[in-house]
Amino acid sequence: MNPFAPLIADELNLVERTLQQTLTGSQLEEHVNTLCLHMVNAGGKRIRPTMVLLCAHALPDFDEEKDGDRSVLMAAAIELLHTATLIHDDVIDNSTLRRGVRTINDTSGNHAAVLAGDYLFTRCFNLLRKINHMGAFAAVSDTIATLVAGELLQLEKEGYLDLTPEDYHQTIYCKTGALFELSASALAITRDNGKESLLPALKAYGRLVGAAFQIADDNLDYSADTASLGKQVGIDLADGRITLPVILALQQVAGADHQRLSDAIAAGDFAVVKDIITSLGTLDEAKDQALSLAASAKAQLQVLPDTPYRKALATLADMAVKRGN
Ligand code: IPE
Ligand code: IPE
Ligand code: MG
Ligand code: MG
Repeated sequence: MNPFAPLIADELNLVERTLQQTLTGSQLEEHVNTLCLHMVNAGGKRIRPTMVLLCAHALPDFDEEKDGDRSVLMAAAIELLHTATLIHDDVIDNSTLRRGVRTINDTSGNHAAVLAGDYLFTRCFNLLRKINHMGAFAAVSDTIATLVAGELLQLEKEGYLDLTPEDYHQTIYCKTGALFELSASALAITRDNGKESLLPALKAYGRLVGAAFQIADDNLDYSADTASLGKQVGIDLADGRITLPVILALQQVAGADHQRLSDAIAAGDFAVVKDIITSLGTLDEAKDQALSLAASAKAQLQVLPDTPYRKALATLADMAVKRGN
């Protein structure tokens, strides 16, 4: 269960209802809707809609009547966008398992999965039409552009052993941080009432939580098990993706040890790479970096009034790192 349900239960239910309504009712689109609902109904943590709703309520002048519908629509639109990127990401990563169920590329092939992801982008924009705010359209389309750039950047760097922590941070901002940045600022960007002074802090909060979240995800790829994660572990290495614990390990070893690690990465030898990053402590170092990003994210919340929503956002930042799936 979403631990923030007591604060935003009604809205979270409305988000779920909006997702269902968006993906039902059209006879022509029934096949693609079935494919998408398979993934939407498989679950997912709904962390981005949760962030949208908590950040909306945390604003000092949140007005249920004016802002309620818009924040639910933004939350649902962002979850659709997120789901689209997951479906496409599974094609790119050759993944067969997501949210504990078979991926669309696995059940129906890459072609159907690409089209299902494309379709979800259109459904995302269809929800945005109901808000009818140019700033929101622009922010969402810019975020999609950044996501695409991030996935491409990652592809270009596959198997590249000289990747620096800076390269890594740039990639994770693009592929994950940008969407969290959008989630945190989603309601704020739909209003033009002079409260945009809070925008930079909200965006920074989202960006920092997103980076912490992705580092934690990359660690889980080495430390979790497939059953509890609901997706295959070890897939980053199998796909030649060098993540933070491996980058840090490569920087710390020299000579024969460096050669052994490089060979294990090139061979995709999961057990050896995991053993090296565990014994060098770089998995823990990466986790410490994620914790420090979460702490910086929480510091951004000082601009908001002290409410249960602000407290929940601080908890959300912690949870982004201390999670098991
Ligand atoms: C997975 O996101 C993609 C990453 C950015 C690591 P989530 O871990 O939020 O996926 P769901 O929505 O809970 O399945
Ligand atoms: C998340 O990166 C990329 C997206 C923007 C969807 P990952 O490739 O690590 O995500 P998972 O592990 O497949 O969920
Ligand atoms: Mg992936
Ligand atoms: Mg991952």
